[in-house]
Parts: sequence; C-alpha cells; structure tokens
Amino acid sequence: MRIVFHADNTKVQPWLDALRQALPDAVVEQWRPGAAQADYAVVWTPPQQLFDEQPALKGVFNMGAGVDAFLGLRLPANVPLVRLDDAGMSVQMAEYVCHAVIRHFREFDVYDRERDAGRWAFRRPRVRAEFPVGVMGLGVLGTRVAQAVAQFEFPVLGWTRSPKDIPGVRCYAGEAGFDAFLAATRVLVCLLPLTPETEGIMNRRTLSLLKPGGYVINVARGAHLVDEDLLSLLDEGHLAGAMLDVFRTEPLPAEHAFWKHPLVTVTPHTSARTLREETVAQIAGKILAVERGEPIAGVVDRKRGY
Ligand code: NAP
Ligand code: GLV
Repeated sequence: MRIVFHADNTKVQPWLDALRQALPDAVVEQWRPGAAQADYAVVWTPPQQLFDEQPALKGVFNMGAGVDAFLGLRLPANVPLVRLDDAGMSVQMAEYVCHAVIRHFREFDVYDRERDAGRWAFRRPRVRAEFPVGVMGLGVLGTRVAQAVAQFEFPVLGWTRSPKDIPGVRCYAGEAGFDAFLAATRVLVCLLPLTPETEGIMNRRTLSLLKPGGYVINVARGAHLVDEDLLSLLDEGHLAGAMLDVFRTEPLPAEHAFWKHPLVTVTPHTSARTLREETVAQIAGKILAVERGEPIAGVVDRKRGY
C-alpha cells in the first residue's frame, strides 16, 4: 500500500515517521508533483494538482474536522473524503468555549483592568439565567461544547440542520427555528462547517436578533462572520464583545481592526489543534478498516459539504 502526505502548515517529517510506524507495511511519502500512484492521501489544504495526478486513490483523509478547503477542488469520482472525527479536538474545543463564556460572564477582562490600576473592586454578581449560550452546530464538536457549557448551569441552546434531542440542550432546527434560536441566545458560539449555506451566517441581521449585550465566540471558520457587521454592532453597543479564533484571512492581517478592538479577543486558530498521535492512530485505523472492506465513520457527504 502506498500513501502520499501533504500539509504545508506543519513539519512533515514527524508525520511521515508516525504514519510509517502506525502502518509498517505501507510506503509513506511526502507528495510531490509526479509522485507514484498512491492508494491513500493524508492531507491538509491540498492543491488540485495532487488529485489530478492521483486518479487511483481509495481514500482521502483530511487532517482536520473542517473540509471547506475541498469545496473548490475536483476529487476523483466516488473516492471517500474522510474528515477527522474528534481525535482529541472536542475536549480542546470545550475548554476554549467554556473559558470564553466564563471569562465574559465573570468579567475577568474588567478584573484585569482593575488589577492594572491597582484597584480592589468587586463587581456585582451576574445572573447565570440571563446568559443563555446558543451553539450553532451540534456535531462532533458542538455537542461536546454544549454539554460542557451546561455543566456550569448556563441555559444552553443548540441549532442544527436536522432536529436533535440532547439532554440539557434546548434544540432548534432548520431555517424555521433559526430566528427563535437567535432571539433566545445571548452568547453565540459558531461550530458550523463552512458551506455555501453557512457563509456569512453571522451578519447584521442575525447578530441583531441576539439578546442585548450579546457575545460572539467564533471557533469554526472566519467566513461565517461578516467582520464589519460585528464591528458596527459592538460600536453601537448591541453586542458586548467577541472572542474569535478564526478569520477570513489567516494570519489575521496586522492592520485588521480586530487586533486592537477593546471588546475583541483574538487567538491564532488554535481552539482545537490537530494532535499528531491521535490523528495518526485514527487515520491508520480507518485505512486498515477500508483495506478489510469495513465501513468507517467520518465520511463526508460531498453534496452537503460536511
Ligand atoms: P460536524 O460533526 O460535521 O457537525 C456540523 C454541525 O453543523 C451538525 O450539527 C450540522 O447539523 C450543523 N450544520 C451544518 N450545516 C448546517 C446548516 N446549514 N444549518 C444548520 N446546521 C448546520 O462538524 P464538527 O466536527 O463538529 O466541526 C465543526 C466545524 O468546526 C468544522 O467544520 C470546522 O470548520 C471547525 N473547526 C475549527 C477548529 C479550530 O481550531 N478553530 C478545529 C476543528 C474544527 P446536522 O447535525 O443536522 O447535520
Ligand atoms: C481545524 O480548523 C479543523 O477543521 O480541524
């Protein structure tokens, strides 16, 4: 069996070593133009040329949960595209979002400023029931996040394409449920895949529906958010702040208003990292399952886009 590997955002050698160790009978190589025909590709943001030159692939394994980088690519017909299925990401996402919710709710930014000014000053405790947290997308990551936030006794809501029943989460579905979900939410978390339906989903209209003092946590993709609409709603006072991990252009350009905005916290696309050990174990396990003719989880529905 032959495997080609492509990722331009990481050191390649440790990944090649880990894949070779997990699949000792396979030939594993970094993909280069003209590479020999492979059975499987393990990739992050691959170029079209890789697929044009590899028509015999039996599986394409994405080294992340989001497959939006494939939306504009032509893959060989019927080759399964397989997304990363948790692999240690959901606990990281739960940490990040709980941190963001609690930091905002408990006003730790204000306490940081008080400390800088050398002031010992209490804030009046805020009422948890007044901070309903709405999670858009209750998939592998969103479900874990919603359940983790619920542990802190915030009211938790969720919105998905198809109806869901998750204990402790008030679930809304589809376009028909969207505005009611937003109107009942104060802290909005985006964990949707980026598809033509979800691009720009956080915009002036939708963010205006959030309860006054709304807070936005975007951990999905930058293109879910219309940046200017968030900035104007912050400046108008309808929104109280945002914690953003993902951006339309990454790295976030130095001149972007998000860097210095007093109500915005930015992190460099780090809320849930691809962990090498877990990722290689999952992908190697799935390749062996495909070789045995067994079904695997995490195959992307290419029509749906996730
Ligand atoms: P997933 O398991 O595919 O779940 C996606 C969820 O979104 C599902 O609940 C789905 O609804 C819902 N959804 C999709 N399209 C929708 C629509 N048009 N309207 C309403 N709901 C819709 O994905 P995941 O593994 O949880 O990951 C979510 C996203 O997180 C990824 O696509 C990726 O972009 C992002 N991500 C970011 C980082 C980071 O470091 N910042 C790390 C990992 C992932 P149904 O359940 O009804 O299908
Ligand atoms: C990271 O952003 C991922 O999609 O896994």
